[in-house]
Amino acid sequence: MKVLVIGSGGREHCMAWKLSKSPLVDKVFCAPGNGGTSLCAENIPIKPTDIKSLLEFAKKNNIGLTVVGPEVSLVAGVADAFRTEGLVIFGPDKELAQLEGSKILAKKFMRDCGIPTADFEVFDDAHKAKEYIAERAGKVVVKADGLAAGKGVIVCDNEQEAFDAVDTILIDKKFGDAGNKLLVEACLIGEEVSMLAFVDGETFVPLVSSQDHKRIFDNDQGPNTGGMGAYSPAPIMTDRMKTRVNNEIFKPFVNGLKKQGKKYHGVIYAGLMIVNGDPYVLEFNVRFGDPETQALLPKLKNDLADIMLKVCNGKLHDTQLVWDERVYVCVVLASGGYPGSYEKGKQIDGITKNEDNGYSIVFHAGTVTDGVNFFTDGGRVLNVVGMGETVKDAQNAVYSRIAGLSFENMFYRQDIANKALNR
Ligand code: AMP
Ligand code: GLY
Repeated sequence: MKVLVIGSGGREHCMAWKLSKSPLVDKVFCAPGNGGTSLCAENIPIKPTDIKSLLEFAKKNNIGLTVVGPEVSLVAGVADAFRTEGLVIFGPDKELAQLEGSKILAKKFMRDCGIPTADFEVFDDAHKAKEYIAERAGKVVVKADGLAAGKGVIVCDNEQEAFDAVDTILIDKKFGDAGNKLLVEACLIGEEVSMLAFVDGETFVPLVSSQDHKRIFDNDQGPNTGGMGAYSPAPIMTDRMKTRVNNEIFKPFVNGLKKQGKKYHGVIYAGLMIVNGDPYVLEFNVRFGDPETQALLPKLKNDLADIMLKVCNGKLHDTQLVWDERVYVCVVLASGGYPGSYEKGKQIDGITKNEDNGYSIVFHAGTVTDGVNFFTDGGRVLNVVGMGETVKDAQNAVYSRIAGLSFENMFYRQDIANKALNR
């Protein structure tokens, strides 16, 4: 079978790498891919939102499974277009992708299904939003409704910041039409954790837990980024908590969709906040997380292509996921200046043809290759994963692999997975 992976980040390199190991898979294509995906797949210069060209390519090349990385493709309707033509694709259709594409729709769905989430109100009028903020006690989070490249969420420390956030979204239109409406949410204080589950329309199968590190600097300082590192498993996800998340979040999620007569095929990512021992959903993503995936998929012992086909065909019910027991830690190597402006085109030293040496794996995100050398081409450049029996062993594995990699102005967080050590 030939497989097409849509996207160009570290998540997509990791998926292409994992799929290329499957006995069911003869060849992987990546659209558009990056320098690293060229090691395990053939890169095709098609954008993730160019649905017409993706479809043409898949039909012409007899693609047996298409896997969608980024939400923009799903929100644009790539899954609908492929399924209409009888092609097998991993990811929900356009309507269900709105669970990520519209934060208001997601919150209303959670309220209707009884999924625990922060209290909220919806506004399209700045004056009314501010009245509400002034009346209520406690900190709030103000969120633009639509996709805003991860920047549409403003956690406010005081009333004035919340008023400013309302103006930024509704009056200044900083996020364009994504900010035609907004949410004002109660601010939850606790520890964040990511729980993902495969969903085949009827059944869900949860993956192991992971934890992202969103802030740019050590000790969670500085601005938010796309993610500077991740590790798995997250010790806050005890067996008891896993059961609660299954019963209180994933079960009502699947049943809620069933009640509406809708079938979700793909992976659902629940971004959780654990508050005083209780799980709350901050957000749903309709795709794999980045960089969580880079810590999760190498840990998975099953054949990923087989699981993804089962997800697409509604055959997940007897699937048991088997995981390597070791701890996996992923550290993002970024370009100096990220998440602000940064330079591209720096030569990367230390890349080998073999991503995986048994203790660590190098996945590429923002890289390009001229066929011989690799060069930086984005803010998040490489994702290095280390594994070990303990958190400390995994950290040693990842940071010693990083010591052999370099490019001008490279920087990374030194404290990924320390939260797991400190527990
Ligand atoms: P989201 O894109 O909705 O995941 O929000 C981005 C980040 O904002 C989350 O990872 C949290 O750190 C934070 N956040 C979102 N909603 C809340 C909330 N209700 N309370 C506290 N923090 C939040
Ligand atoms: N790691 C956060 C995300 O993928 O949205």
